[in-house]
Amino acid sequence: MLRVAVIGAGRIGKIHASAVASHPQADLVAVCDPIGTAAEDLAALHGAKAYKDADDLFADPDVDAVIIGSPTPLHAPQVLGATRAGKAVLVEKPVASDVESARALEAELETFEHPPVMVGFQRRYDPSIRRAKELADAGELGTIEQVTIVSRDSAPPPASYIAVSGGIFKDMTIHDFDEARFFIGDIVEVSAFGQNVLPELAETGDFDAAVVVLRGKNGAVASITNNRRCVTGYDQRLEVHGSTGSAIMDNWRPTTLSVNTKDASGTQQPYLDFFLERYADAYRNELTAFIDAINNGTEVTPTVADGVAALVVAQAAGESAHSGRTVRLDG
Ligand SMILES: NC(=O)c1ccc[n+]([C@@H]2O[C@H](COP(=O)([O-])OP(=O)(O)OC[C@H]3O[C@@H](n4cnc5c(N)ncnc54)[C@H](O)[C@@H]3O)[C@@H](O)[C@H]2O)c1
Repeated sequence: MLRVAVIGAGRIGKIHASAVASHPQADLVAVCDPIGTAAEDLAALHGAKAYKDADDLFADPDVDAVIIGSPTPLHAPQVLGATRAGKAVLVEKPVASDVESARALEAELETFEHPPVMVGFQRRYDPSIRRAKELADAGELGTIEQVTIVSRDSAPPPASYIAVSGGIFKDMTIHDFDEARFFIGDIVEVSAFGQNVLPELAETGDFDAAVVVLRGKNGAVASITNNRRCVTGYDQRLEVHGSTGSAIMDNWRPTTLSVNTKDASGTQQPYLDFFLERYADAYRNELTAFIDAINNGTEVTPTVADGVAALVVAQAAGESAHSGRTVRLDG
């Protein structure tokens, strides 16, 4: 059994903790969080140890691997602390708060032998997105020409989260940048438009909605629509359009029921509530891939290099949204 610890007992830390605790090849052995009783509370649920300080956790010989779900600015130093202590790492997105820190992390990791480091772009492990990718790779859709991604959160995070998040492009759209890269590869041009539609987040100084257009090196174009609030639920859609076909992922509902009455036809339940529900399979599959990489030496994907590449696009999107210009990345 792989002995896994979770760092950060917040929204995503709780999801990872329960995925580890229910995984047949892993044990949740420790939780680390310095704030209040967060670590103790989550650890107690799963019979794990609680730590306040990540360095103490890294020194624990009974931990083989860590999942880092702490606030974004802590990711890079914690990845280095864990890998230097010989622990495998699954680090949440984004790998760092800015491109420079992410590149420094990548360069530092190349200077010593360490166990696998994987980045938490869980959408690559979502069954629908994965199937679309398999079809694209098998040539079933012909040449991929356009990718359309819609990603709207059901409710915005608190302003305190946004303050350390790095901003909408590095925090939220980064999933879409990785998803776009998954289908069209390297990105060479970025055009972004930011919006402020939520008065309660006006003081954060960040955009709370955005539309971004990306051009891939191979000529394909991806468009991304984001919003931190969607009253109809967690809106996650994808269309991969190729020269001989397309793959379309619609929103998921709790059931497939379609109800007809005298007043309306085809009425369905609202979309699933949020990422916990929508990507539950993806987080489990991601964990299995992480465990396979450690136990069986299978490919680590997405890599730190993927994390850096997505951050480069995110930074360019920020520049574009503020300047009103298209940003080129190919030279
Ligand atoms: N992949 C996904 O779907 C997904 C979803 C949500 C969040 N995230 C990422 O996960 C990270 C955390 O997001 P969240 O929404 O869970 O935030 P959160 O604020 O709910 O949780 C963060 C937790 O980290 C703890 N923490 C603070 N300092 C710490 C330290 N020094 N060591 C360990 N823990 C510390 C906080 O007390 C808090 O409990 C962010 O980087 C975010 O981008 C990823």
